[in-house]
Formats: sequence, structure tokens, C-alpha cells
Amino acid sequence: MSESTVAGTAAALPKTARARGKIAPIKFAHIVFKTSRYDEMVKWYRTVLEAEVMSASPMATFLTYDDEHHRIAIANMPGLADAPHQSAGMEHCAFTYETLDDLFATFERLSALDIHPYWCINHGPTLSMYYRDPDSNQVELQIDIFDSNEAVNAWFAESDFDSNPIGVKFDPADLIQRYRAGEDRTTLLARPRIDPGQVMAQFPAPPEAEG
Ligand SMILES: [Fe+2]
Repeated sequence: MSESTVAGTAAALPKTARARGKIAPIKFAHIVFKTSRYDEMVKWYRTVLEAEVMSASPMATFLTYDDEHHRIAIANMPGLADAPHQSAGMEHCAFTYETLDDLFATFERLSALDIHPYWCINHGPTLSMYYRDPDSNQVELQIDIFDSNEAVNAWFAESDFDSNPIGVKFDPADLIQRYRAGEDRTTLLARPRIDPGQVMAQFPAPPEAEG
């Protein structure tokens, strides 16, 4: 096993690549999609990420939700084939919200627009809701459950992550109700221990099995 794959080393790393003596990117910049569902895709990312249009033309639209000039670009390419579900490639991209309130508010805002997650899972380090865009690309909206890498590493050390690296599914309506009833964040966000035989059942259903 290489050093970089050992769980628990991240907290000990210097914060920057330069401090490690490496030349590496300073940030993750953007994602570009090519689509034949141009208007739908632009609308979906504007809606889901509350993104602003920085530039738009019939060829491409550039969106951002923060101080980056663009985080998402969508290229209009009519006539593309849909990717088969079982094809290789990016599995999902993930976006982190600042607070649990923000994640829940986003879930409720999107639900009212009939945009629903296909998978809600407490991974342990994150509480995550996964959505599919109009081209079936998968997008994770999440919060970090812990405040620091040290706390994440402590959780890895004492959790059942070895037998369950997936997580435990949750019902967002139930979790939101418990949150608003005043349940403490510590119990609300603690990933339950499950029987190893239940781990495979935590995966989402394949798209064709969804109603
Ligand atoms: Fe993820």
C-alpha cells in the first residue's frame, strides 16, 4: 500500500503541496459537460447550484456559484449519444454546503421543484444527497459532518468503516423532522452501525429500477 492510500495520514500533511515540496494545483477549477439537452442542462445546474450565468451563447454557457469565474460549463452539442449506465467514466461530482441548514433548505427547495435525490446516505464523514442531472450525470450535495481532518481520522479509527465503506441510507424527511425537533447534531449525524450483511443494501437502486 502506498503512503498516500493509508487512511489517517491526511491530518498530518502540511496544508499545501508547496509545503510538501510538491508542485500541484492550488484548487479544483471546474467541470465541463457536453450535452444534447442544452437548455435542460443549463436550467438544471442553475437551479440546483443556485448558479449565475457568467456567459451564454448558443454554443456554451458558463456558470458559477462563488468567486470563481466559472465552476460549470455546458457545451451544446446536438446529436450526442447517451452514455450507457454501465459505461466507465466519472461516477459523480460533489459539492459541499456550509451548514446542515443549507443542505436541508436546498433539499426542500429542489423537492418543491420536483427535483429529488435518488440516494441519501450518511457516509460517515459526510451527509450526502445524490441527484441525477438531465443527462444522468450524478451530483452529490453534502455537508462535512466533522470540523477537521483530525476528527474524521478519529472517526475512521473507531467506526465500522472497514466492514462498511459505503454508509447508511437515511430518509431526509425523517432527518429534517428530527433536526427541527431539536435533536442534537451528534446523534443526528452519527452514522449507525449496521450488520455487514446489510452493507450491499445501502447502495442505490439502478436507474432503471427507480419509479
Ligand atoms: Fe462523493
